[in-house]
This record gives sequence, C-alpha cells and structure tokens, in this order.
Amino acid sequence: MKKFPKDFIWGTSTSAFQIEGGWNEGGKGKSIWDDFTHTPGKILNGDIAEVACDHYHLYEEDIKLLKNLGVNAYRLSIAWTRILPRGYGKINKEGIEFYSKIIDLLIENNITPWLTLHHWDLPNALQEEKNGWLNSEIADYFSDYARICFEEYGSRVKNWITLNEPWVTAILGYGKGNFAPGRRSNTEPYIVGHNLLRAHGKAVKIYRENFQDSQKGIIGMANNCDWREPKTNSVEDINASERALEFFLGWFADPLFKGEYPKSMRENVGDRLPKFTDEDIELIKGSCDYFGLNHYTTMYAENANGNGYEIDPHANGGIFEDERVILSSDESWQKTTMDWNIVPWGLSKLLEWIDTRYENPTIYITENGAAFDDKIEKEEIHDDKRIDYLNSYIIEIAKAMRKGIRINGYFVWSLLDNFEWDLGYSKQFGLHHIDYKTLKRTPKNSAAWYKSLIEKNEI
Ligand code: GAL
Repeated sequence: MKKFPKDFIWGTSTSAFQIEGGWNEGGKGKSIWDDFTHTPGKILNGDIAEVACDHYHLYEEDIKLLKNLGVNAYRLSIAWTRILPRGYGKINKEGIEFYSKIIDLLIENNITPWLTLHHWDLPNALQEEKNGWLNSEIADYFSDYARICFEEYGSRVKNWITLNEPWVTAILGYGKGNFAPGRRSNTEPYIVGHNLLRAHGKAVKIYRENFQDSQKGIIGMANNCDWREPKTNSVEDINASERALEFFLGWFADPLFKGEYPKSMRENVGDRLPKFTDEDIELIKGSCDYFGLNHYTTMYAENANGNGYEIDPHANGGIFEDERVILSSDESWQKTTMDWNIVPWGLSKLLEWIDTRYENPTIYITENGAAFDDKIEKEEIHDDKRIDYLNSYIIEIAKAMRKGIRINGYFVWSLLDNFEWDLGYSKQFGLHHIDYKTLKRTPKNSAAWYKSLIEKNEI
C-alpha cells in the first residue's frame, strides 16, 4: 500500500483539436489538422473533427464530469488559431473569452488548470505562408502567441506546458508523414525538433522575464517516451536500448536539462542534426521547471548492426535507421487496441532512467492511459481492462516514489473518448464514452474507479 502525499496532483488530460469541434466558429482560424483531416485518404474511415466531442459547446457539462471525478487538476490545450486565427497578427477576442470562461469555471470548482500551448494544431497560415516548424522564425511566432496567453491567463493559470510531444510533431509530421502536415523526410524532423526547442526556450524566457515573479507559476514541456528494454543481455543490445531512449527522449530532454544533444545522435545523424548557437543554449538549457512525461508502452530494443538490417533512408523518415535499433515485442505481453504493449514495469524503469540522467527532477506524468473497445451493456461500460492498466501503472509510480524519485502528479489520458488523430474515432481512450451522434457522455467504470482512488489517495 502506498499513501500519496496530500498535495499529489490527480488529473486528466485532453487537447483542443481532439475534443473541441467548433472548427470554424467563434472567429477561429484553420489549423494544419483542420487542413489534414479534410484531405481525402489521411484519416481512417475519412473521419473529420469538425464537431469532435463538441466540447466547444458542451464545456460546462465536461467540467461537471471533472468535478464528479474528484480530480484536482485538468490539463487542456489552447487552440492557437482561436487566439490568433492566422497564428500572428490580429487577436481574436472571442477565442480569448472561450478559454477564459473555462479557466474561471475550473477554478470555481477547485480544479487547477494546466494549459498546453501547442498540442500539434499549428495555424495553417503559418504552415502555408511561413513553412511552419521548418522556419527558424517560428520561435518568434510561437513566443508572441505564448506572451498573449501569459498576459491573458497567467494571473489565474499557474501551470504551463509549452509543447506537447515535440517528437511526434517532428517524426510523425515531417518524417513518417502520417500526421499533419504530412511531410516525409529524413532531414526535416531534426530541423523541426531544433526549432521546437528554440521556440520553447524563447517562450520560457518571456515568461521568466515578465510574468513568473508576479504570477508565480511553473513552466515546462511534455515529452513522450516509451521504455526500451534490451532484447538480450548482450552489450550491443544494452547499448541499443540506451541509444533508442536517447533518440526518443534524450533528443529533447538532453538539450533542456543538460544543454546539448545526446552524443549518439550527433554521431549517427551527423550533419543532418543542426547545431545550437550559444544564444540557443542560453535559452534552452535549464528552461524547464519540471519534467513532463507522457508514457504508454514498452518495446524490446535490439542492435541493428550485423543483423542483415538494411538502411532505407526513405522508410519512416529515416529516424529508426539513424538509431540503428530494431524494435520488437514479447509474445507474452498483453496489448491495447492501439496494439501497444501493456508493460507496467517499463514505466518504473523509465522513471529511474530519467531520475538518474536528469538528476532527480520533479516529474509530472502528463499523460498515461489505454485504448480498449467500449461495450455498452444496459447503459454501463465495464472497462475492467482500463482499470487494470491504470492500476498497474500507478502501482509502478508508487514504487518509484518509494525509491525517492520525485513524482508530483499524474494525468489520465483522457477525460473523454475523442479524435485519435490519423485513427479518427476508432480508438477509445476516455474515462467517459461519447456517442458521437447524440454527443451523450457516459461514465465508464474506470471513472468510478479513478474517483475512489483519488478519494483514498492510496494504492
Ligand atoms: C499522445 C498524444 C495524445 C493522444 C495519446 C494517445 O501521444 O499526446 O494527443 O492522442 O497519445 O494516443
């Protein structure tokens, strides 16, 4: 049994594009995801997110769901295009108002808002006119937008996440191309990653110089990482797993916490990995007040050299080829409907890795959860598999905390079933089921389970 500290943060997460809908309402501009989802062939079953969970209209109801869950925190993202429809220029007052109402309502209900500034929905105008994250000036556009958010919301919002999962923007958006803006390259992901770090650094500088002292908030980034377990005990596989973690999490966390890219990346990627200027490092190193981690799954890592493994620079944008790691799964591992392995001990190993490498930072698990198919029986959804998943992962968090790893909070992905990017509505991650025709929300059994966990505050 583990009792969590009294002030432990129990929350849920969502993102604007995945739940809001209202895609062209209230003065909102188009994002790259609006564009991408309207491009035939990009999304499973041709699903679009014009309405999604209609949170844009139903946010009051959703805040009631949060209240009923008993969470003390809620992580949401701001749609940049509601604040600045073109990504820069004229501010849209209606968009400012929309999040302002949500923030007020959360606070009224004793739920602490955690705001993410960028959860992948870059303004389309910035993509089309300015070349999106490939343009180094994006750091200025992003930090100008961030400044507006600090100004408007910072007296009420004390927890900021600049970027959600830059790895995904870089690799899936510009490497593999299955996410917006749908580009495929083995060079662009590294340029994009570099500019994401610079944009974050610039936004943090603005926050720290102008707002942090008076507003007294914290700011950081949410990075995603799976655990990579060496496939065998060979030195080659142990090194391969280390390299895989460096290419995944170290790519972003090393510059943020240590001020440079991992050595393995510099060696394997060579000239395709941009170099930081002194000014960049000044902005980026030490720019996180905490370590935000999104974690879902684990894979085996095996060294690719000497395995007859061919480098195909066009597959997967080249990133896995650069790592020289072959990934695989254990047959005994259970899977979610995303085909992601359920390996709770992977989380504690990852937490230990983070704790050692980044010298005992304060960690928030900003996302964790699982997709399983909902079966509704007499208005009830018995999602025991989700309960088992969450329970087993939270136990690992408790174990890690016992070892002295500093974990301050945990956010379930997600409050509601929602639009799962290129997979549309086919995957259900929520503590609440959504009927997309009637938009009716039904709490699943996992919602009651999470509520009782929060009440007991122990596992
Ligand atoms: C994360 C992402 C979320 C959600 C989740 C489940 O990578 O931040 O938006 O989609 O995965 O796939």
